[in-house]
Amino acid sequence: MNDAAPTLLLCSETDDLSGLCGEFERAAARDCPGLRVRCWTPDTPTTELQSVVAIAGWFVPMGLPARLLRLRLLASIGAGVEHLLRDPHLPPDVPVTRIVDPAQARGMAGYVLWAALHFHRDLDHVLAQQVRREWRMPSQRPVSAYRVGVMGLGAMGAEVARTLAAHGFDVHGWARRPAALDGVTTWAGPQAMRPFLAELDMVVSLLPLTPETWGLFDANWFATLKPGAVFVNCGRGEQLVVPALLDALRSGHLRGAVLDVFEHEPLPADDPLWAEPGVVITPHMASSASADVIAGQIVADAARVLVGQAPLHAVDRQRGY
Ligand code: OXD
Repeated sequence: MNDAAPTLLLCSETDDLSGLCGEFERAAARDCPGLRVRCWTPDTPTTELQSVVAIAGWFVPMGLPARLLRLRLLASIGAGVEHLLRDPHLPPDVPVTRIVDPAQARGMAGYVLWAALHFHRDLDHVLAQQVRREWRMPSQRPVSAYRVGVMGLGAMGAEVARTLAAHGFDVHGWARRPAALDGVTTWAGPQAMRPFLAELDMVVSLLPLTPETWGLFDANWFATLKPGAVFVNCGRGEQLVVPALLDALRSGHLRGAVLDVFEHEPLPADDPLWAEPGVVITPHMASSASADVIAGQIVADAARVLVGQAPLHAVDRQRGY
């Protein structure tokens, strides 16, 4: 990186992104000829970074974007952007984008549908019976009598809510701002949170991590749920106050929890959550975008900013999503 050719830098302090390099090179050759693709390492000299016009990253080192004088795009390789926005030195005029992938949203909808069916069909009880070699048929209630709430109605949450509704669940959606979705009862704003939660059999969070959602799922929040409700977290681990969840489970107030995201990932082997009765743990697998979609979308946005156009997938930096 020692000449002036515009460069897209794949960059994360926590994850090895070199596996994405080939996909980005193919996308660049196709959609943005002349754009070079490089992988950041902690040894990349500052002088070599001066041709960087776009970063595709996850946990980008704090302060790095501010040192890149040609930077015009800071792209998250995932649907969330909180790991990019945590940098207090981000240049104010550089757009931050996220991945929007309909296939990822469909994958998320499949995961949540599985969780809803698991509890609606009492598979938590049935699987526990199997361990005891016990044959007892649960009574089956209509799917329309099982109320599922979806928190966060962006691209992903809307697809989840629509899929649950198409399956016949009684679906309620909550978002900060009013949203309308066919077959879904929607609620908006902080004052609607309590009535939205009160009658749910299951609540699913797909909320982005922002200062408002950090630690949102605390003891008060769990107390608002009806006894026997189930909590599913597909948003971010930092939103959950784990001791509050454990208290709600151990007191019998909460029937179960499905957790796909954690404050520290991978979840450490000695974390008590692994062995907590009623908790299903999955390794941040609810859904991810494919490498070709990630590369294609980010390179297309890089091509746009290079000719002075706005990228198509920018987030509102003030809102945080
Ligand atoms: C994402 C994620 O943000 O996988 O895409 O969590």
